[in-house]
Amino acid sequence: MKKLEALYSGKAKTMYITDDADFLIAHFRDDISAFNAEKTASLSKKGLVNNHFNAFIMQKLEEAGVATHFESLFSDTETVVKKLDMIPVECVGRNFATGSLCRRLGTEEGIELTPAIFEFFFKDDALGDPMINSSHIHTFGWASDQEVVEMKELSFKVNEILFPLFQKAGMLLVDYKLEFGRYQGKLVLGDEFTPDGCRIWDIKTKEKLDKDRFRNDLGDVVASYEAVAQRLGVELTALS
Ligand SMILES: Nc1ncnc2c1ncn2[C@@H]1O[C@H](COP(=O)(O)OP(=O)(O)O)[C@@H](O)[C@H]1O
Ligand SMILES: [Mg+2]
Repeated sequence: MKKLEALYSGKAKTMYITDDADFLIAHFRDDISAFNAEKTASLSKKGLVNNHFNAFIMQKLEEAGVATHFESLFSDTETVVKKLDMIPVECVGRNFATGSLCRRLGTEEGIELTPAIFEFFFKDDALGDPMINSSHIHTFGWASDQEVVEMKELSFKVNEILFPLFQKAGMLLVDYKLEFGRYQGKLVLGDEFTPDGCRIWDIKTKEKLDKDRFRNDLGDVVASYEAVAQRLGVELTALS
């Protein structure tokens, strides 16, 4: 497969078109951002770690029956993915209360949420990704009613697969963000699953091991992502 010109570039990845119209190459860059890109940095090796982390998780999800855009690793920082017609909605699952949920509802930080909470957000940086519900998605035509049902079901299914995976490695999957798109008319999990888009705490110490390390200036951001990867058994050795 040939990598051709960049199609678009987001805060952490650049998507390239390829010589096959059905596939893109996602380049995981070292860039990291938080608070609506008010805080940004470039962290050496983050792209490599997230590329391999994402490949590992996407393959686990595929094995468990979730359709994803993942095709194959292309390089240490690049992955071949199905080109999706992205739905402009972020799906968030929450197992423990933290972050914006606590700010919005005054919920005590760290309490377990049983059953897990599911939320939709409108993917729009300029608006600060506001929370929405299925009525907004319906009226504005961002997704069909069936897709709304499927996005929610798949988000819970992802949780059922990944929560035990992290737990067995001594970690809590606190919350996570998913983005879906359409491929040949079918709903498919796209984007990425990395410590940039979820929260992971050590089970015993409750130490934060995800992007909150960057948000809160806790240091060792990439070292922490690597430690999570190692605990899960993600292969991080360079391909070439
Ligand atoms: N399989 C895919 N096909 C098409 N677009 C995708 C796919 N996976 C992710 N994208 C989109 O690629 C863009 C770049 O990713 P990213 O850097 O994470 O952007 P953002 O700044 O929106 O977080 C995002 O708009 C994301 O929705
Ligand atoms: Mg993103």
